[in-house]
Amino acid sequence: MDGSPLRKDAPEDLAPRSSTRPIDEGAALRASLLQELPEIPARYLYDDTGSELFERITGLSVYYQTRTEISILESRAADIVAHAHPRQLVELGSGAGRKIRILLDSLRADGRGVTCTMLDINELFLLQSIDRLSVDYPEFAFRGVVGNFMTDLGRLGPAGGRLVVFFAGTVGNLHPDERRSFFGELSQRMDDSDALLLGVDLVKDPARLEAAYDDPEGVTAAFNLNILSVLNRRFAGDFDPSAFRHRAFYDPENAWIEMRLVAKRKQDVRLGAIDLELALDAGAEIRTELSCKFTRASLEASAAAANLTIDRWYTDPDDLFALALLRRRRP
Ligand code: AVI
Repeated sequence: MDGSPLRKDAPEDLAPRSSTRPIDEGAALRASLLQELPEIPARYLYDDTGSELFERITGLSVYYQTRTEISILESRAADIVAHAHPRQLVELGSGAGRKIRILLDSLRADGRGVTCTMLDINELFLLQSIDRLSVDYPEFAFRGVVGNFMTDLGRLGPAGGRLVVFFAGTVGNLHPDERRSFFGELSQRMDDSDALLLGVDLVKDPARLEAAYDDPEGVTAAFNLNILSVLNRRFAGDFDPSAFRHRAFYDPENAWIEMRLVAKRKQDVRLGAIDLELALDAGAEIRTELSCKFTRASLEASAAAANLTIDRWYTDPDDLFALALLRRRRP
């Protein structure tokens, strides 16, 4: 530990400084809803209600990802820490901050000090998480950045001795093109002493994958449908969520799960703030999320395009989920 006292950032450091202005955001939403297959960007799933519903999803028995990732972390944290030798931890999309604790416990046991920077889009979750971590780990310094991992990587401080962690398989929610630019930008901001710890959901039996995105309690359906209420609020819309049903399926060619909303009846929807009228037939579908699944080889190929390579690969006995430790490739 560098002896730095516990520090929470001044409010302005917590403010989002994304370059995406609302007007661009509206135009982007309009364009995606006017595609042949209308699409709502998945980030609109995560208002406060959506974030809470996602927290509930992580506890569902069909949703094996979270508990499996935690079990891998618990058994391999010491190896990860010994291998990465971090002076700084940076967590992207930190949410409730549960998993970072496993790494902090390992660092504490090792007597290593770190500063910990946490980036999340949800200010409330971030503040609560930093408050709790600061109490439980007073020897570490915490800093919160409200932002988006696609646009705000430049706000996370300088390279060098950093372990950047991106848990939960969230990298799978990026479209392959977005994933390419995310890996590219991250790699450019890393030096040889940095590492990226990435959680990825693995390709497996499609029935098991589909069950994880269509739970019998209907929590995932509620999570998906909530996106319509978010649009209603933010863009003066009149979507009737009860006129849609949740659909999730595995596309083996692209190795991804798609979540969609299906119109139960013919309907017209208006989003006043972006001056958009949508005429939907019964059965019309709107895509709301992709969740890409990986093999070690497919992740290696995707990372190689950004000059990254898998240094360590940690998985569970059933090969459900993996944590990959990536580094920049040496020439
Ligand atoms: C956040 N992300 C990794 C989740 C996933 O599995 O793709 C989001 C989610 N969507 C439906 N269930 C969970």
